[in-house]
Amino acid sequence: MCGIVGYVGDKQAQDVVIEGLRRLEYRGYDSAGVALVNDGSVAWAKRAGKLANLEKVLAESPLPGSTTGIGHTRWATHGAPNDTNAHPHLGNHGRVALVHNGIIENFAELRSEVEAAGDELRSETDTEIAAHLIETALAAGGTLTGAMQQVCSRLEGAFTLVAVDAEDPSRVVAARRNSPLVVGIGEGENFIGSDVAAFIEHTREALELGQDQIVTITREGVEVIGFDGRPAEGTRYHVDWDLSAAEKDGFDWFMRKEIFEQPRAIADALLGRHDAEGRLQLDEVRISDDELREVDKIIIIACGTAFYAGLVAKYAIEHWTRVPCEVELAHEFRYRDPILTRSTLVVAISQSGETADTLMAIRHARQQRSKVLAICNTNGSTIPRESDAVIYTHAGPEIGVASTKGFITQMIAAYLLGLYLAQVRGTSYADEIARVVGELRDMPGHVQRILDGADDLYALAAELEGARSVLFLGRHVGFPIALEGALKLKELAYLHAEGFAAGELKHGPIALIEPGLPVFCVVPPRGRDQLHDKMVSAIQEIRARGARTIVMVEDDDHGIEEFADTIIRLPRVSTLLQPVPAVVPLQLFACELATRLGHDVDQPRNLAKSVTVE
Ligand code: AGP
Repeated sequence: MCGIVGYVGDKQAQDVVIEGLRRLEYRGYDSAGVALVNDGSVAWAKRAGKLANLEKVLAESPLPGSTTGIGHTRWATHGAPNDTNAHPHLGNHGRVALVHNGIIENFAELRSEVEAAGDELRSETDTEIAAHLIETALAAGGTLTGAMQQVCSRLEGAFTLVAVDAEDPSRVVAARRNSPLVVGIGEGENFIGSDVAAFIEHTREALELGQDQIVTITREGVEVIGFDGRPAEGTRYHVDWDLSAAEKDGFDWFMRKEIFEQPRAIADALLGRHDAEGRLQLDEVRISDDELREVDKIIIIACGTAFYAGLVAKYAIEHWTRVPCEVELAHEFRYRDPILTRSTLVVAISQSGETADTLMAIRHARQQRSKVLAICNTNGSTIPRESDAVIYTHAGPEIGVASTKGFITQMIAAYLLGLYLAQVRGTSYADEIARVVGELRDMPGHVQRILDGADDLYALAAELEGARSVLFLGRHVGFPIALEGALKLKELAYLHAEGFAAGELKHGPIALIEPGLPVFCVVPPRGRDQLHDKMVSAIQEIRARGARTIVMVEDDDHGIEEFADTIIRLPRVSTLLQPVPAVVPLQLFACELATRLGHDVDQPRNLAKSVTVE
């Protein structure tokens, strides 16, 4: 998820673009850049780090005046966050400048084509490939619009592209597929942005582009066509948000926005991860297949919510690979004198990539000569930099302290790792792996369905506003989700909440049950029958003691209604994948309850987004 701005009008483009990028910096902040069309050439500047670094460069070495320009703040997916990989990227002769948000899945084959044409590529990014292709198409004649249309019809993946042509200062051209793009319509000027925050200070008249559409903005107007070149229509609307709401896309909290971004985040986490034949390809995993085949133990280390993602991963990885898999709290790991060898694969899960406990743990593991693989959301952060390999989760910046899309994509990445290991080690057949990958690709739709029913969770939060304690029960992969549901309530509503393995109830916790006590129960799919029936028995036991049971159960799983005060229906998915849809109701509930209690949901008391001290 990146911040993109385009402008053409009568103001100084650099001022408009930089101001727009400042409004969008929450969308990505590991590098920034600007490109201006001036007197037959493109003037540009770009820098790693926050926008302030770019502004400092511009102050020291001003670009020439221009009324046509584009800009970008980056959340890196392909290529480390450095000056070279920062956007904009230029074509081979510097005529076209391009900025991009998203992932071009088929960039590897396109890169070969560009290199075969003799072009010199300067960065590691997929974006630069597109810039070269557009410039080559433009050089063959026609307009930037036509070149954009020609190239976009060849690209696969999710992308927003915005480009300028040094030889045509009258226009800025943009295209979108599965990635946000909105036009701001002014008087004698027009704007392009990743979202309305880019231009809301200048105009509240907006045009939302549809799928596979290309827009050309000039001073005089806005023209929309499809990738097929035929005229098309965007959706015109008036923006009545204030700037703060615009940054949250109209939501009250970044966390709530990020909960609702999860379908997109899951889809992005899967992008480019399997080839045309359905074989998994994890291009950032720089550990050889032979080394992966020699792994005889896996230890997952993480903290907090990331640790719960690790617990889910354990069930899946052991089932698919038959490799013993331990899950350890990072801060406990190195002090327990763990048994580590060259055949141990340590997997560090971290959204921020800066958690000190996890970082110190992987340093210990590497000193013991174990291989370390990071599952991380922040490109170029310390933990992946100090690991042998990485799987980026591509969730985009997660601003809310309470992790939601970060967590759900950690699970997706962990599933991909387990399937990849099974593919490399031959412990699952290709068709079995392809079936699970197909189920993962259905997950955005499953999560969206739960989000569509958010009001039911909000109503439940209203009913339970006075609760002083809430319990969560789960079995198998539902147990980590019970733990995560409890953590969300602790960190957001400041409520006592506890997650248990349901089988543990009779070994003590059932003494906690009293009339009216709310207990969320995650009922396993019927794929593992003995678990399903045992979970139902646990629900009967607590209900007999007066608990207020909130039962999360699959769509067509009936017979539990008589023991449930509230039923939350989940889409039917395989046993190991149930955590993905199952966590979403608990996120919605915790977010709403904390909101009702008047807490700062994005910045809960005593907590930081990244714990960089041990
Ligand atoms: C989760 O909601 C919390 N923000 C916290 O438990 C977090 O998951 C933990 O601190 C680990 O952070 P990391 O994923 O950035 O390493």
